Amino acid sequence: VAALLDCFMRLNNNFQGLYMLKTRLTELLNIQHPIISAPMDLASGGRLAAAVTNGGAFGLVGGGYGNSDWLRTEMRAAGNTRIGCGFITWAMAGNTALLTQALAHKPVAIMLSFGDPRPHAAEIKAAGALLICQIQDRKTAREAIDAGADVLVAQGTEAGGHGQRRATLTLVPEICDMVAKEAPGTLVVAAGGIADGRGLAAALALGADGVLMGSRFWATVESQAHEDHKRKAVALSGDDTVRQTVTDIARGYDWPVEYTSRVYNNALIRRWSGKAEDQRKTAEAARKGYFQAFADGNTEEVGVIVGEAAGMIHDIVPAAAIIERTIAEAEEIIARLGSLRFQG
Ligand SMILES: Cc1cc2nc3c(=O)[nH]c(=O)nc-3n(C[C@H](O)[C@H](O)[C@H](O)COP(=O)(O)O)c2cc1C
Repeated sequence: VAALLDCFMRLNNNFQGLYMLKTRLTELLNIQHPIISAPMDLASGGRLAAAVTNGGAFGLVGGGYGNSDWLRTEMRAAGNTRIGCGFITWAMAGNTALLTQALAHKPVAIMLSFGDPRPHAAEIKAAGALLICQIQDRKTAREAIDAGADVLVAQGTEAGGHGQRRATLTLVPEICDMVAKEAPGTLVVAAGGIADGRGLAAALALGADGVLMGSRFWATVESQAHEDHKRKAVALSGDDTVRQTVTDIARGYDWPVEYTSRVYNNALIRRWSGKAEDQRKTAEAARKGYFQAFADGNTEEVGVIVGEAAGMIHDIVPAAAIIERTIAEAEEIIARLGSLRFQG
C-alpha cells in the first residue's frame, strides 16, 4: 500500500509540475526544492528561515556580525523546523562562542562566508552539522575544499551584500569543474543575481546542484528587513545598485579589503564614493545617527542591501510563494529547452 501511495504521489506531483527538480542538494538536505535562502544579517530571522523550509526549500538564520541574544531568539523562533545558521566568518572568528551556541540548537547545517572556514570545520562536523561555505574565487574555494565543506556556494558579484569580483555566469562552471576534479563529492550551489526560475534553470545548466537566493527572500513578508526597504527594492532596478565600501565605513565594520558590498546607490553612497579618507574623519560622530536612520527605515542615508536582482523583485509576498513560482518557472523552462532537441 505504501509503495502504491508513493507511486501515486510521484505521478500526482509530476502532474502538478512539482516533482522533477531533484538534485544532489535536495538529497543531501532532505528537501523538496534545490533552493537555499541566504543567512542575511538582521533580515533572516527564525521566521524567514522556517518559512523557507516549510515551503520545501532550506532556510538559514543569519548570524551576521554576531549578537548572542538575537541568535538565541531567532534560533528558538524557528522551533523544530529543519534549518541552518550562517555566520560572517571573520566576525565570528573573534567570538567563536557564537558558533558553539548555534550548534547547541542542532542546526542541519552551518554556513560560513567571508573568511577562512578551516579553523571551525572540526567543531561543526563533530556536532553533526553539514558545512556550507560561500566562496568567491578559486582561492576561497580551495580553503573550503580543504575544510571539508559539504557544499560550496559560488557567489558572483551581482549578489546583494558583501562579495568580490567574479560574475556568477563564469564563476559557477569554473568552480564546478574544479570541484569535479578535486572533491567530486562536494556540491556546488550558485548565488548572485538569482531571483526566479530563469536563474534556477540557468544555474542547473551551469552544473550547479541548486541555488542560494538572498535579495529575493529579503523582500518577502517574513523577512525582518524594514518594510520601507522592501518597498524600495520593488521600485529599484539592477541599474540602481553599486558595489561600495561607504556603508562599512559608516557602520565601523572592518571588512578585509577584498570585499565590497552591493547596495542601492542612494544619497549616502553618492556623497561619499571615492572619498573614504574624508568619510572616515566624520564617520564615528555620524554613527549613532546612521543606526537610528536604519532602524527608522530611511532609504537614502543608510545601506539598503540589495543586489542586481532588484530588477526582478516586483512584489512582497510570502517566501513560500517565491519558492513555488521559482520551481514552476524553472520546470517550464527546462521542459521547453528539453523539447527543442526533438524539433525539425
Ligand atoms: C540584505 C542582505 C544581507 C546579507 N547578509 C549576509 C550575511 O550576513 N552573511 C552572508 O553570508 N551573506 C549575506 N548576504 C549575501 C548572501 O549570502 C548571498 O550571497 C546573496 O544574497 C546572493 O545574491 P542575491 O542577493 O542576488 O540573491 C546578504 C545579502 C543580502 C541581500
